[in-house]
Amino acid sequence: MSKNRVMMPSLVAGLCLASLSCSAVALAAGEGWRNPSLSPDERARLLDAELTLDERIGLLHGPMALSFPGGPPIPAGSVGGAGFIPGVPRLGIPALKETDASLGITNPGDVRPGDTATALPASLALAASFNPELAYEGGAMIAREAAAKGFNVLLAGGVNLARDPRNGRNFEYLGEDPWLAGTLAGESIKAIQDQNIISTIKHFSLNGQETGRFYANSIIKEAAHRESDLLAFQIAIEKGQPGSVMCAYNLVNGDYSCGNDHLLNGVLKGDWGYKGWVMSDWGAVHATDYAVKGLDQQSGEQLDQQMWFGEPLKQAALAGTVPEARLSDMSRRILRSMFAVGLFDGKPVKPQIDAAAHAAVAKKVADEGIVLLANKGILPLKGGAGKKIVVIGGQADAGVLSGAGSSQVTATGGNARVVPVGGDGPMAMWGRLVFHPSSPLKALRAALPDATITFADGRYPAEAAAAAKAADIAIVFANQWMAEALDAYDLSLPQGQDEMIQAVAAANPNSIVVLQTGGPVLMPWLDKVGAVVAAWYSGQKGGESIADVLTGRVNPSGRLPVTFPTSLDQYPRRDLPGWGLPKKQQFDVIYDEGADVGYRRFAALGMKPLFPFGHGLSYTSFAYDKLSVKGGETLTVSFRVTNTGAVAGKDAPQVYLTGAGGVKLQRLIGFDKVDLKPGETRTVTLKADPRLLASFDEAGRQWRITGGTYEVTVGPSASTAALTGTAKVSKRSLKP
Ligand code: BGC
Repeated sequence: MSKNRVMMPSLVAGLCLASLSCSAVALAAGEGWRNPSLSPDERARLLDAELTLDERIGLLHGPMALSFPGGPPIPAGSVGGAGFIPGVPRLGIPALKETDASLGITNPGDVRPGDTATALPASLALAASFNPELAYEGGAMIAREAAAKGFNVLLAGGVNLARDPRNGRNFEYLGEDPWLAGTLAGESIKAIQDQNIISTIKHFSLNGQETGRFYANSIIKEAAHRESDLLAFQIAIEKGQPGSVMCAYNLVNGDYSCGNDHLLNGVLKGDWGYKGWVMSDWGAVHATDYAVKGLDQQSGEQLDQQMWFGEPLKQAALAGTVPEARLSDMSRRILRSMFAVGLFDGKPVKPQIDAAAHAAVAKKVADEGIVLLANKGILPLKGGAGKKIVVIGGQADAGVLSGAGSSQVTATGGNARVVPVGGDGPMAMWGRLVFHPSSPLKALRAALPDATITFADGRYPAEAAAAAKAADIAIVFANQWMAEALDAYDLSLPQGQDEMIQAVAAANPNSIVVLQTGGPVLMPWLDKVGAVVAAWYSGQKGGESIADVLTGRVNPSGRLPVTFPTSLDQYPRRDLPGWGLPKKQQFDVIYDEGADVGYRRFAALGMKPLFPFGHGLSYTSFAYDKLSVKGGETLTVSFRVTNTGAVAGKDAPQVYLTGAGGVKLQRLIGFDKVDLKPGETRTVTLKADPRLLASFDEAGRQWRITGGTYEVTVGPSASTAALTGTAKVSKRSLKP
């Protein structure tokens, strides 16, 4: 393909290129794309036409901005981090400087020596906040730090549904419900891009487990996929308009995600009309013809067998096996997102990081993400002179646990403690427990200055029990470390912590368990302890947030974004597919639960969980009344929430669809977060996204609402209905 210049007449346009002050400048022929009053599509079309074949190919692949032992140094012009796509200086096209991601700006292998960043709690904790405003604040915060460090792409937006509680990356995602996950991911992506940083959404699609993730073939029926994982993506893409979608490692229904014509060309770009570009996950490309199957860019290419989208793609283009129009579509999509997010016209100055303000965002997310699961009246803790409290285990003297993998952040202040766990492959780099510098022990001592608070490391159950016996109250920290590329073997607390908690609870019933986990765990000791708190991975202010929740300075308002089961037998796959198989052997992960993920399946099969989706206690109480349900094209549900207790608190009322035209089901169709003073009442009105009332009709390639009487419940969790109501909904179909 030869260089194809579009001859544009000279024109005068408002320019806002290098500064925010715009001036009228004459544009030369071929420079019409500089005109900021044109649409991103038009500007991308004009600029794309200026690219030579080599320049275009250059935009379609790139390496990690990391140097491997014996390999070349990090690419010139990059910022050390996850990825780099060189720009085209001749045309003023900036390079794409990519970093992970949703929990804060990462610094893999300390490639930027000593650089730290604000570490947010796990995305699962954000999901537990049930608060889209916090998703926005967190996203904006990370994007400001990305900009300050010289990045312009955030590999954020993890939205895979928690289909298996053992999935090693559930902590990076937003729980098991498509509406909750899609809404929060959309807010966070929007916030990132409002700061002129491109965000991805990932991993498209059904990257539901880490075991054998390069060889796992996720099998699901089309309608079920559309009503679950794809719906979460669709909602988030509509709300956040991410510049890029990252396809996943696994196969979906027989084809690798990044070479999946149906998913990429059919669903994403076809049915949904997605205008941005598809970038691969790192090491997820296996052939050049992925270009015709919908992949636009090969990322992290050192990890692939070949630079498929380099010379092989150029040869394919010259031979015509990848049509010229498609090649141009690939680069145009990238340029379009760069224009849409303002990479050409964006802020000229690197913002300074306001570390204190950013830490406050991390604190807020932890405050609202921590879930009080059970409380026999022992919480909030009261201090007082002479009170003896022992904090046991979990390295709580040093800091709070974080999850490992590409999302691992080195928090402001540096790692408080690092405990190597070893391993080969990715585990060589990620196999270490990192504790963020926010010690719950110190925070508790600060919050309860009159009490005597000691620490026991909890290595031996008998020793922990003796320490608990000698104290008035024992607070046990129990850790489940989760990591990318590594699923949990089962849902027990590892390294004998369950036995340790049993021993502590037997010695002192005034025991409180603080769980730091990447998802649900079993609690064989539940009825023996006084209270249980799910703190997840709570970020760089987590210790303070845990202390504030335990002592009542913060009234807990987190709600479970995942069901906590009584046993693994409550899930469709008792054994993790692929576990123990020889490497490189493909295997099927059959998602025959379909769209009944998490609580939906518990409802369908009438199973009782340990703690239901949406559950979370407070130090006050809430009551619901005055339900009104309006039907028609969709459901509009309105009701009142009143704080009936003695202290201020936040509630997360949830609306579920429980019947649709005679069919029993359960789907979250709306939620809100309300902050109420004692005695205060608020009216909440929620309008359901009509797709949540519909089923996907595969043959007709559309959503169908069957119509009839639709039933809803309003309540504090998926298992508790405080109010019930019905309305008539009209039969109709909706575009896919
Ligand atoms: C992960 C992605 C991440 C990428 C770049 C991959 O291993 O799956 O989520 O964005 O690495 O670090």
